Amino acid sequence: MTMIDGTHGVPARADVHSSWLGPASYWQPAHIVTSAWLEHAPFGFWLFDELRPRSVVELGTHFGFSFFVFAEAARRLGLASELFALDSWEGDDQAGFYEEDVYEAVRTIAERDYPESTHLLRGYFSESRHAIADDSVDVLHIDGRHGYEDAREDYQEWRSTVRDGGVILFHDIAEHGEGFGVWRLWDELAPRHPSFAFAHGHGLGVLGVGETRSRGLAALFDANEATAREIRSTYSRLGAVVTRQAQLEAMPAEVDSLHALVDSLRHEVERTRDIVSQREAVIDDFRTSTSWKVTRPLRAVSSLLGRGRREAARPGDPR
Ligand SMILES: C[S@@+](CC[C@H](N)C(=O)[O-])C[C@H]1O[C@@H](n2cnc3c(N)ncnc32)[C@H](O)[C@@H]1O
Repeated sequence: MTMIDGTHGVPARADVHSSWLGPASYWQPAHIVTSAWLEHAPFGFWLFDELRPRSVVELGTHFGFSFFVFAEAARRLGLASELFALDSWEGDDQAGFYEEDVYEAVRTIAERDYPESTHLLRGYFSESRHAIADDSVDVLHIDGRHGYEDAREDYQEWRSTVRDGGVILFHDIAEHGEGFGVWRLWDELAPRHPSFAFAHGHGLGVLGVGETRSRGLAALFDANEATAREIRSTYSRLGAVVTRQAQLEAMPAEVDSLHALVDSLRHEVERTRDIVSQREAVIDDFRTSTSWKVTRPLRAVSSLLGRGRREAARPGDPR
């Protein structure tokens, strides 16, 4: 049975749940690297299954977690997508500045696992703007610097690349700490476009561009309060599984570093023991030496004098 969804005129299935949740929502990421985006992997997989994007642009890739979620989704779905990762790969004052090995690690995975689909455009975002045509992108992910002005500049410069029916993702819309202002941009944009906001994983805003043709996205954008709550709690729980997976994957390395710590402490204890026994040997040598024996009477007199002085000083003693 099909129904017509009022707001966007999109045919919707009777089983509304399956329109915002599918088998891809349960996939596990193939590459777990340090990231604040971990908990959005299930939604990222679902989005790709739903939109089947031909062209994807990410502003801010760092270690590549979100980018590899997109690349893995395209690979598993057999899509001939082109994915562009844009980053200076120098870092910034929010993500922290980092060394060349970060870019090398991303390049190695991209070339080895996704050679056909991925393109790394190294440099400042605006330097690569000419490489991406207007109305050519299905998914634009904005995850560079997170100040209000930064995010607004990225949005204004890149929104025209997104074609009708595409989406723009904004990470960190739930961060209100110092230096974070994506929430403010999101508050301005969300009421004027089809949109949906996740609060978990630092927040992810999903903004529809033009007409929404995807049934699943329409279900998201048109969700009433109760459904929106259910969508949020489902993806938050699925996201927590990814965080646990990351913790499990990190465990062997943590165990290795604990072993290394125990080894170095053991080494330190042995070294200290050696020092103590060397000193004891020196003291023993001295005690058996002639000068120690010759000075024994002097030490005896000095000890007697000491005792006498202590007794004389004891208050209240009869004299
Ligand atoms: C928050 S990290 C990206 C996180 C990534 N999406 C993930 O899944 O973990 C932000 C990245 O954006 C890059 N960046 C920030 N502003 C930039 C700009 N104007 N041009 C190029 N790279 C920029 C930084 O180098 C940093 O690696």
